[in-house]
Amino acid sequence: MKVALFLALAMLGALGATAAAATGAAPGILAGSAALAFLGLAAGAAAAALELRAPDDLREPRTPRGPTSPSPIPSDGVTRPVFGKMWLGALAAFGVLGLVPLVSLARKPGRRVLTGWRPGLRLVDENNRPIGFDRLVAGGIETVFPQNGVDLPDASTVLIRVAPELVNGAADGRAAAAGYLAFSKICTHAGCPVALYRRQSHELFCPCHQSRFDVLDGAKNLSGPAPRPLPRLAIDVDAQGYLVARGDFDAPVGPDDWDRVR
Ligand code: FES
Repeated sequence: MKVALFLALAMLGALGATAAAATGAAPGILAGSAALAFLGLAAGAAAAALELRAPDDLREPRTPRGPTSPSPIPSDGVTRPVFGKMWLGALAAFGVLGLVPLVSLARKPGRRVLTGWRPGLRLVDENNRPIGFDRLVAGGIETVFPQNGVDLPDASTVLIRVAPELVNGAADGRAAAAGYLAFSKICTHAGCPVALYRRQSHELFCPCHQSRFDVLDGAKNLSGPAPRPLPRLAIDVDAQGYLVARGDFDAPVGPDDWDRVR
């Protein structure tokens, strides 16, 4: 019975790991399920070995020919065919687990990371207080986060307000029409926080390797090693007058190799 129990755990773990990989679950769930699968298989093999071992006091007189005694297994009520099927089931589950790398390969390269931003989620400051429509004046800048997501490392965002006439944002909603622009705070070169803003030239500046980004032109890189613009966060205003996200960033945040695929 112990062998059957361990093999069932191995099957459960292998199938769980496969499901975790397919659904993009947290790495801890995938690792835990895989560990359960391997431990279950190892424990099942060890229990089967103990079952197969003949007792030390087993002595049988030699007979000239013919079979001696039947194998000591199964001895706990699990019939031999069921026992064999359990092993086959465990091996099949491990075969499915072998598809996990293929699941990862099948994902579209460059698939964007989902950060904490979602449509309708309010922009908040570092104290989780929502950002009202009148929070900034033209030339102002503030670091904002998704509501209840201040500790999310890849969601930090710089909110900038420029003179409305500088933004062709009427089609992008009330916030953009009022001069609000929002970009990922994580530099696309090596991930430093892009926190410096030159309001005269409307540039964001990364202090690590001096990349400059033009906030009036989609945060495109003006100079420095950053390979692409800062991802933009489209924002709007809700019925209570607070700034809200219209979705997630329009591109993966940070360097190209930063957790790009999950
Ligand atoms: S990290 Fe920003 S320019 Fe290198």
